Amino acid sequence: MEKTLLILKPDAFKRNLVGEIIKRIEMKGFKIVNMKFEFLSKEKAKRFYEVHKDKIFFNDLINFMISGPILSIEVEGENAIYLMRKLIGATKPEEREMGSIRGDLAIGLTDNLVHASDSKENYEYERKIIFGN
Ligand code: CMP
Repeated sequence: MEKTLLILKPDAFKRNLVGEIIKRIEMKGFKIVNMKFEFLSKEKAKRFYEVHKDKIFFNDLINFMISGPILSIEVEGENAIYLMRKLIGATKPEEREMGSIRGDLAIGLTDNLVHASDSKENYEYERKIIFGN
């Protein structure tokens, strides 16, 4: 069994899609093992997305992530990291598969409803920032 981290971003709350997204996670067979609702501070959002700090979209991304609440969900399942990335869909709008969360529900590039860890190392890094040690 493997664990991964999913984050429901502020637009999931603005658009009332929290229940729909959680339903899709559960229907796919992932087991929810931990959850945290919070308003990210600017400093915590910057640490979370440190890997993107030199990108041109960094400031917009941070301002978006602190524009409302987020819900962080740790899930467990077979091949969870890879499968959760498939379930959420691609980052670029034109590459998002229909049937994925972003493909069906997200419109924008920054406001893409969800984030999921893309590797074991990033899961460990992100989990510590959200939940602590
Ligand atoms: P996420 O999977 O959380 O990882 C980084 C986030 O930056 C991404 O989702 C988007 O919300 C945001 N973002 C904004 N512009 C871009 C871009 N050009 N490429 C990748 N990510 C972007």
